[in-house]
Amino acid sequence: NWTTGNVIDEQVAAIREQVGTKRAICGLSGGVDSAVAAALVQKAIGSQLTCVYVDHGLMRKGETEQVEKDFVAATGANLKVVDASERFLNALAGVSDPEEKRKIIGREFIRVFEQAQLEILQEDGPEVAFLVQGTLYPDVVESGGGTGTANIKSHHNVGGLPDDIEFELVEPLRQLFKDEVRMVGAELGLPDEIVQRQPFPGPGLGIRIVGEVTKDRLDLLREADAIAREELTAAGLDREIWQCPVVLLADVRSVGVQGDGRTYGHPIVLRPVSSEDAMTADWTRMPYEVLAKISTRITNEVADVNRVVLDVTSKPPGTIEWE
Ligand code: XMP
Repeated sequence: NWTTGNVIDEQVAAIREQVGTKRAICGLSGGVDSAVAAALVQKAIGSQLTCVYVDHGLMRKGETEQVEKDFVAATGANLKVVDASERFLNALAGVSDPEEKRKIIGREFIRVFEQAQLEILQEDGPEVAFLVQGTLYPDVVESGGGTGTANIKSHHNVGGLPDDIEFELVEPLRQLFKDEVRMVGAELGLPDEIVQRQPFPGPGLGIRIVGEVTKDRLDLLREADAIAREELTAAGLDREIWQCPVVLLADVRSVGVQGDGRTYGHPIVLRPVSSEDAMTADWTRMPYEVLAKISTRITNEVADVNRVVLDVTSKPPGTIEWE
């Protein structure tokens, strides 16, 4: 019979068997799957695991700290944090096209992550032979089922290492659905903020700024997003809403009046959606009072924002994200 306790015991035994005395690396994204996979592997092999978190500077307020502090406190895992925010900002400078942004963020992410892997490989200790991934059952089905290895190509700026390093994959969540992963995570002691986290795109706030991504715009959006999340949580809407992208229309300005002066600021879009699987979605008919509170707080507390608008488009035709 299925219990989270059984799943954990089984997977811990299987991971120990697979990894033996070698070492493993796990990339943390801030999301549920990688956190739970890492926590399971940590339980199985302890200090033989090193987690890597690439801070691309596109996370929401408090999320990097959540990984650095709460995840580590809950699991005791070795964590290597790479602050690459400058690098991502530089790479994104002047870019407004959504697909171009995605490509750049993906490319930089892989480069930074591989560099971190190479540094871990060079440390003293047992051979690093495994890469942990938070693959879920639906991912397995979708991709045709095979398990495999990951090829890491070194780049010409890193000398003295073999051209190709091959890792064997450790995928302790391969038999689980998302809700089961959340249960396992809770049982392993991960905090609710990690285990119950709503979907958030890998490219982060980079694809929630319509226009060029800059440090100032990211800071502004982080503040607006934090207010919206705080109020949605306070109103008890986190379970009802699948996710609520908060989008900055950085290239749009509109006239407003605040205090005793005319303003010419940017709009923030709220995009609360209800969905089962993100393939289709409907805009969430959420209470006006909550919308009013979010709007008042954002326009009062976030400089340069003088308007808050609600996206009332279903998917299709609109996607959940604006980019
Ligand atoms: P769309 O905007 O296509 O989003 O309706 C569907 C779901 O996918 C998320 N999303 C992404 N996730 N990388 C990701 O990891 C991406 O580039 C990306 N784009 C969209 C989105 O948040 C929603 O949950």
